[in-house]
Amino acid sequence: MAESKPTFYITTPIYYPSGRLHIGNSYTTIACDAEARFKRAMGYDVFFLTGTDEHGLKIEQKAEQLGMSPQDYVDKMAATIKKLWQKLEISNTKFIRTTDDYHEKVVADIFQKLLDKGDIYLGEYTGWYSVSDEEYFTESQLAEVYHDDNGKVIGGKAPSGHEVQLVHEQSYFFKMSKYADWLLQYYKDHPDFIQPDTRMNEMIKNFIEPGLEDLAVSRTTFHWGVPVKSDPKHVVYVWIDALTNYITALGYDGKDNSDFKKYWPADVQMVGKEIVRFHTIYWPIILHALGLPLPKKVFGHGWLLMKNGKMSKSKGNVIYPETLVDRYGLDALRYYLLRAMPYANDGLFTPEDFVDRLNYDLANDLGNLLNRTVSMINKYENGSVPQIKSGVTDFDSDLEDTSAMVIDHYKELMNELHFSDALSEVWKLVAQSNKYIDQTEPWKLAKDPDDKEKLDSVMAHLAASLRVIAELISPVMTHAPKEIFNQLGLTDEIDLKNLDFMKLPAGSQTVKKGTPIFPRVDADEEVDFIKQQMTKTDKTKGRSAMKAAAENQFNPEETDLNLTKKEVRFDAFEKIELKVAEIKDVNKVEGADKLLQFRLDAGDDGDRQILSGIAKWYPDFKKLVGKKVIIVSNLKPRKMRGQVSQGMLLSVEHKDGNVELVTVSEHLENGVTLE
Ligand code: ME8
Ligand code: MG
Repeated sequence: MAESKPTFYITTPIYYPSGRLHIGNSYTTIACDAEARFKRAMGYDVFFLTGTDEHGLKIEQKAEQLGMSPQDYVDKMAATIKKLWQKLEISNTKFIRTTDDYHEKVVADIFQKLLDKGDIYLGEYTGWYSVSDEEYFTESQLAEVYHDDNGKVIGGKAPSGHEVQLVHEQSYFFKMSKYADWLLQYYKDHPDFIQPDTRMNEMIKNFIEPGLEDLAVSRTTFHWGVPVKSDPKHVVYVWIDALTNYITALGYDGKDNSDFKKYWPADVQMVGKEIVRFHTIYWPIILHALGLPLPKKVFGHGWLLMKNGKMSKSKGNVIYPETLVDRYGLDALRYYLLRAMPYANDGLFTPEDFVDRLNYDLANDLGNLLNRTVSMINKYENGSVPQIKSGVTDFDSDLEDTSAMVIDHYKELMNELHFSDALSEVWKLVAQSNKYIDQTEPWKLAKDPDDKEKLDSVMAHLAASLRVIAELISPVMTHAPKEIFNQLGLTDEIDLKNLDFMKLPAGSQTVKKGTPIFPRVDADEEVDFIKQQMTKTDKTKGRSAMKAAAENQFNPEETDLNLTKKEVRFDAFEKIELKVAEIKDVNKVEGADKLLQFRLDAGDDGDRQILSGIAKWYPDFKKLVGKKVIIVSNLKPRKMRGQVSQGMLLSVEHKDGNVELVTVSEHLENGVTLE
């Protein structure tokens, strides 16, 4: 009878497909992939889930700007994201999209179940909403507030730095407050539920103790979502739709729930720290209300930061995984990301650090160890790995002990998601092995036939060490282990569960000439290269506030939830060309009730067409003909609703939220540039 393997279910967040994924998102996915591979190698039956979070206002607007249907847009983006994960050799079991039929169906059912049960009720929502964050804030949560003359709050900024607007709407709410005491007790009974530890206190202090607010779970202001069955003018709002992916992916409440029975509750749900709250407060409560067990662990890692803060296109500090993989190989990226991110804090990406890790950890320490070992076995042993024996040289037991200790620590650390520390452990064995060569001085042993037994032992020990190292790095690096096994003539079977230094097969044949697995790179050149890649983003995108006001739309490139500054560098500002233009004609755009199409004389050879999302404020738009306005004239033309827009009109947003075009004196010549 075959013994059934223990199961292990691990999930990444489902990412918004509203922009290109960068090395930040890649971090979480690679970390989960490493854990999944580790558990498989430890004999587990692993289900590893990732996917995309495809509904919501942000996606609806982004698609509209591109003149696409939301479905076409998410189809295209999901395909791109899948391709990225293939390139990063992510070994996910399944890729869920929230637009998948089975998911939408179960979301509608779950919502209805909770409504019928009385956990969801209809109310009125008044709150400060940030479109970019897709999140409501109470006044006290705002990072900044604007007052009118009477001291009344009339606007402000979310903690992310994005503008918020006051919204009143009918909305369904989830009675989170009803479950606050239960949740606190659950935390007490399950002290390991939230990791790292410190995040649990943050949740209690910041959100639960001040009084858990009910959560708005439906919207009537956009349509790109799952309709509420009994009240379809509402669509299910982001979190019930998004969080439930973790169970719908397993077939919960669907046609075939065998995976759900087998894998739920999840063993590890990994998320970035900014969404720990949703995964450790709302998600447990939703599950509990459904009568389902909670995930065993929610792990909230820190952010990967750049020197000037979080990655964002407007800062010109974004780095894409493809760039690094194409130039340095996948192993370098996967190793670097997991090594650079500490357990509980944020990690810092710098080009210098990346290149150093590549040159020192990989090329020098590991790469050279392999090279030296293979060439010595060729030279001294005719390419045949000798039988391993204990206690032949004075240094053998040290290396064996280090290996045993490293294997133990490594497994503990990997089990607890301490990736960086687990890799440091492995590098202890790498260092000890290099030291062992210096200690035993095989080139001297080779000179005296009496020392042949010692020489054999040294060669066998080095091969054994490399075999252990290759197995230990195999969850993180997908190429180097194969190369190491191949050069040492070993099979690439990985079994971390039974990994044992002394179980080295004798007689395997090394390759005749090993090629370096991690060639050294020129540090200065490569640092420059990476820096160039980081600044190769369109700096004009930094003026998102202006652009948003001008078009009454958020900046589609600026999807980063955690952008904190709207500053741009002076040279970025200088690149923007502003011109006076005269409005020759204005028309509505078919099928886009927000857009107006302007024909303008900006002193060019022909007229210019610019589309602007200000229709709402200009019911009498024909009256604009003849007015002179300011345009950003050197924006890259783009398509909206199938039409080309060649620039952008400047406007102001009044404190009450109304938008008005900026007009200038009629005696200013068409096409003059503003200095
Ligand atoms: O929040 N450093 O999706 P998202 C580390 N759809 N990790 C980073 C990172 C950085 N600089 N930037 C992004 C959403 N991440 C929701 C989730 S889940 C039911 C719904 C990673 O596209 C990190 O895991 O904004 C973070 O939580 C996630 O990407 C956010 O992805
Ligand atoms: Mg986000």
